[in-house]
Amino acid sequence: MVDAAKPTVQPLPLERLEAQNLRALAGGGAERIRKHHESGKLTARERIDVFFDAGSFVEFDRFVTHRCTDFDMQKQKYLGDGVVTGYGKVDGRQVFVYAQDFTVLGGSLGNACAAKICKVMQMALKVGAPIIGMNDSGGARIQEGVHSLGGYADIFLQNTLASGVVPQISAIMGPCAGGAVYSPAITDFIFMVEDTAYMFITGPDVIKTVTHEQVTKEDLGGALTHTNVSGVAHFSRPDDRTCIETVRTLLSYLPSNNQEDAPRKPTSDPGDREIPELDTLVPTDPRKPYDVQDLIRATVDDGTFLEVHSGWAQNIVVGFARYAGRSVGIIANQPAVLAGCLDIKASIKAARFVRFCDAFNIPLVTFVDVPGFLPGTDQEFGGIITHGAKLIYAYAEATVPKITLITRKAYGGAYIVMSSKHLRSDINMAYPTAEIAVMGPEGAVNIVYRKEIDAAADQKAAREQFVGEYRTKFANPYQAAELGFVDAVIYPRETRQRIVSALDLLQTKRDANPPKKHGSIPL
Ligand code: HXC
Repeated sequence: MVDAAKPTVQPLPLERLEAQNLRALAGGGAERIRKHHESGKLTARERIDVFFDAGSFVEFDRFVTHRCTDFDMQKQKYLGDGVVTGYGKVDGRQVFVYAQDFTVLGGSLGNACAAKICKVMQMALKVGAPIIGMNDSGGARIQEGVHSLGGYADIFLQNTLASGVVPQISAIMGPCAGGAVYSPAITDFIFMVEDTAYMFITGPDVIKTVTHEQVTKEDLGGALTHTNVSGVAHFSRPDDRTCIETVRTLLSYLPSNNQEDAPRKPTSDPGDREIPELDTLVPTDPRKPYDVQDLIRATVDDGTFLEVHSGWAQNIVVGFARYAGRSVGIIANQPAVLAGCLDIKASIKAARFVRFCDAFNIPLVTFVDVPGFLPGTDQEFGGIITHGAKLIYAYAEATVPKITLITRKAYGGAYIVMSSKHLRSDINMAYPTAEIAVMGPEGAVNIVYRKEIDAAADQKAAREQFVGEYRTKFANPYQAAELGFVDAVIYPRETRQRIVSALDLLQTKRDANPPKKHGSIPL
């Protein structure tokens, strides 16, 4: 008998939910997952597990399916439709993700799939959290025709709207071809996994037909090609796991959005640590190279530096580090490569990095040792004028704290470009080895004293004498210091404490650009 006074407890109707969950978690099925693992890749869900703090992932739209009926597609419905989306925590902070599931219809992108991706992107923008895309897809879902093209367009639009508001990071972990490459290309950083990832607009077969060139997928668009040759990708990593771990590391240097500062990370490395070995790091002979990475790693917290674009345009080094726990973006000429000259690639690399840091409130620390712009027809015909201007523009418009240290050469236009006082840098310092001048002694003497050298009985001796005089007068930091173009000439051993002190000083810095829709950077 039922007791009318007691409410009946109905069991929750869980069978359907549980069955649906199991179907969704099965992706494209055991056989496809086995093949996927065999090719050295983690599945979309495994990647998400590696990425988020344990147990923090919350999924959206697990039961979404496509609505396509062409090509009998109603018989090929997979819950989730080939992409896993949602949010979770990375080091305790909210982050959104979408991960394409190659085991479902090759991770191809149809209408429903695109709508899922746009939904998490919009949510990321609304709450101000980074969005990470894990790309592994055969591209536009052929059976859905132009619907899938529209889906890509919707994603490109969201990428563009989110740009500069929340960090966007793309991890390419499988195929990414055709117009599909343009979503990652709009994002801030691209990671690629070696051997399994590739990106290209047109594949080897099309290239063979049109230009008769023979090229493998790997050579055309593999991780090493894009990190070392084209510069399209910023990081290559040997496998999925290392790739995802580096994405986590990168996030640790970034704020969640453009209204916040990056999180401060406690360190036991003293801010006032002296570094006596820096007194001899920069050779007094200006023709001798040194590795600027040694300078960077000696001065930053715990010697930890996350280099960005390490394989491309190595004559300039950019990346993230911390001073007394504060995240900074470092830009440094590299005297060990092309004598640290600025060229087209270096200008593009540094300009993009500076703009990213400025958009996300990350102070800039610039180490200068630059003999000038790289001469040559290649550079001139390639548009070094336009590309070099990008770097001036990026530094000039940046309103974040800017700290500059000239270690040795700072000549001509390159002196101005590299975060000089004239471009609103806040604290500019120089080593006693600095040479701040219109040009190097040899070049200057050849122009100014040409007649005297030609007329001299011993031309070599005359040239040497003029070079010596020029060096004493101009190839040093003191004329710039007299003019206030550098705020201080410092002992190299004090470098870390000076930078830490400057960052402390500038933490309340406020600066702004004139109101405008946006500038017209020479793209
Ligand atoms: C529908 C696709 C698909 C696609 C792959 N699949 N790509 N289904 N649309 N675009 C399916 C396959 O039919 C197969 O289904 C499964 O995914 C796995 O594919 P395989 O070919 O077996 O895998 P693999 O040998 O590893 O080759 C992967 C691949 C290849 C290189 C990506 O599948 C491929 O070339 N796909 C087509 C790529 C392409 O041309 N895409 C359109 C690009 S143009 P079954 O059921 O057998 O497991 C584009 C425009 C975007 O994307 C424009 C944006 C503006």
